[in-house]
Amino acid sequence: MQAISVQSAHGNYDIQVGDALLQSVGAVIAQKIPKARVAVLVVDQAIELTWAREVAASLQAAGLRVVTHVVHASEDNKSIAQVEKVWRLLLAERVQRSDVLCAMGGGIVGDMAAFAASTYMRGIATVMIPTTLLAMVDAAIGGKTAVNLPLSSDPLDAGHSKNLSTNLSTNLAKNMAGTICAPAWVASDVRTLTTLSTREFRCGLAECVKHALLVDASMLAWLETHREGLRAMDPARLVELVHRSASVKAAIVSRDEREQGERAHLNLGHTFAHAIESLLHDQVHHGEAVSIGLVAMAAASQAAGWWPDADKFQLSKRLTDLGLPVRMPAKVDREQLKNAMKLDKKGQSGAVRLVLLKGLGRPGVLDAASEQVINAGLDAIGS
Ligand code: GLY
Repeated sequence: MQAISVQSAHGNYDIQVGDALLQSVGAVIAQKIPKARVAVLVVDQAIELTWAREVAASLQAAGLRVVTHVVHASEDNKSIAQVEKVWRLLLAERVQRSDVLCAMGGGIVGDMAAFAASTYMRGIATVMIPTTLLAMVDAAIGGKTAVNLPLSSDPLDAGHSKNLSTNLSTNLAKNMAGTICAPAWVASDVRTLTTLSTREFRCGLAECVKHALLVDASMLAWLETHREGLRAMDPARLVELVHRSASVKAAIVSRDEREQGERAHLNLGHTFAHAIESLLHDQVHHGEAVSIGLVAMAAASQAAGWWPDADKFQLSKRLTDLGLPVRMPAKVDREQLKNAMKLDKKGQSGAVRLVLLKGLGRPGVLDAASEQVINAGLDAIGS
């Protein structure tokens, strides 16, 4: 399967998708970043003793000195304190601008580690090695790096918090500090998906459905046709899934790296999803909230008159067939949900901004959604 090429102002890069890539990471880095002498491997604790060992061995075999830093993947650890630990390690190990940091794990570790790499000595090369489906098709592509910031407990700052994407339960302003900095390479080895929980795999599928809706009906049809192969973790099917879905995001970020327009379409369903996550973060994972948010999005698109026959598309049924949730898992006060939607950073001056569909493959942005449109979305998910 061909590499996917991503255009970036910092230099174009490739996404390689395969089922035996980890053993060749060192050789590819030696060829792409020939001056590197040290490879810092920042890795999710969950794969430290398994997949990370293959990568470390391959880096060593390519003549690189390997320094490993293990992180427990939690939103609390997507923090400037963790970044400082990485910076200090890089300094202590005398890492030079010509060296490389490999960020291995899901979105949390990837975003945090890539932020550290993009700022240490004003930026060293990063190689993304995503090991969750969600990271392979979304987080590891497009160069966004980030950490969360704690929400201020100072009441004088309360007004300031209004425009932030907040997680009300954890008191974190998500992704508030970060950079857009293209990686040198993205290596997605689908074997790592075989050790993911079914729940986390399905979370990634929700982002694949989102990408499918942004293009046309063919990818959703493909997902439905190959449901069994995906469930059985057939490597060829997994490679194709990641390749197809990552290609959608790669094309969008190649056209609009800095989110001046089209990249915002990747937030399809996400204003609803972020609100659900912020209120039910202990019950709902991101991909599950995205799945529920997509159902709300379809109903809101119909109510706005954008997608008149959205109901005929039966998105809820299609998501349920993929094992994804489509309704709120617990009763939440509707006004609280609406307030959380207004707090989402995509909203301008208190208005709720929604990415909706005018039909399959035809996304657009509704800047100030009416109560009627928002209520239609919330009705559809049983809030
Ligand atoms: N996940 C949305 C973006 O990368 O823009």
